[in-house]
Amino acid sequence: MPDSSIRDAYGQWASQYDRDENATRDLNAEVLREQSFLHPDDDVLEIGCGTGFNTQWLASCAGRVVAVDFSEAMLETARTRLEETDVALWRLDVTEPWPFDGGQFDCVVSTLVLEHVERLGPIFREARRVLRSGGRFYLSELHPYRQLGGAQANFDHEASGENVTIDAFTHPVSEFVNEGVGAGFTVREMGEWYGTNDDLPRLMTILFEK
Ligand SMILES: C[S@@+](CC[C@H](N)C(=O)[O-])C[C@H]1O[C@@H](n2cnc3c(N)ncnc32)[C@H](O)[C@@H]1O
Repeated sequence: MPDSSIRDAYGQWASQYDRDENATRDLNAEVLREQSFLHPDDDVLEIGCGTGFNTQWLASCAGRVVAVDFSEAMLETARTRLEETDVALWRLDVTEPWPFDGGQFDCVVSTLVLEHVERLGPIFREARRVLRSGGRFYLSELHPYRQLGGAQANFDHEASGENVTIDAFTHPVSEFVNEGVGAGFTVREMGEWYGTNDDLPRLMTILFEK
C-alpha cells in the first residue's frame, strides 16, 4: 500500500486521536517523560508529531522545537494545541530528504512513527546528518514482539463506525540497532516497557548518540 494510505488513515484519526482510549500512546507518553536525554537549551526535532501529544512537553523542557508530520489534519490539531508556544510545525514526509541544514539539532525524537516507514536506513542517515556532534536520537516503537503477535495501529472511526487498521512494517530489534549503527550512531540505552496487565512488552525504546 502506498504511503498516502497511511497518511489518509492518520488524517481520519486526527480529530479523535487524543480522545480515544489508547494504552500504547499513553505508555509512550509516560516513558518519554521518564527520560533524561533532554537538556534545557536543546534544539529538538520531533518527527511524526501527530496531534502534538508530546510536543508541548518537549517544548517545556527543551529550547527550540521543530515538529513535523506528513498529515495536514494531524498538524491542524497540533497547531491548536501549540498556539501559545514557539514550536514550529512543518509538513514533511520523513521518507523524503529532510529540509534542514546539517548539525542544527541536539535531539531528534520519534515516537510511534517508524512502524509506518518501510526503509529505516534513510531515516537514521537524515537524523544523524541534522544532529550536532554528541546529539541524541530517541525512538520509541510498538514492540516487535507485539507486532508478531498481531498488534497493529488501528482505531474505530467515529464518523463511519469502521475499524481502520493502518499499514505497518515489522522491523526486528536488530534492524533498528544495525541501521542506526550503520548510519554512524552509537547505542546508548535500550528499554522494553510494559503497561498495566501487559504480559508482553508494549514498547521498545532506543537512545542513539552521534
Ligand atoms: C501513532 S502517531 C504518533 C504521534 C505522536 N508521535 C505520538 O507519540 O502520539 C504516528 C504519526 O506519524 C505520522 N507519520 C507516519 N508516517 C510518516 C511519514 N512518513 N512522515 C511524517 N509523518 C509520518 C502520522 O501522520 C502520525 O501523526
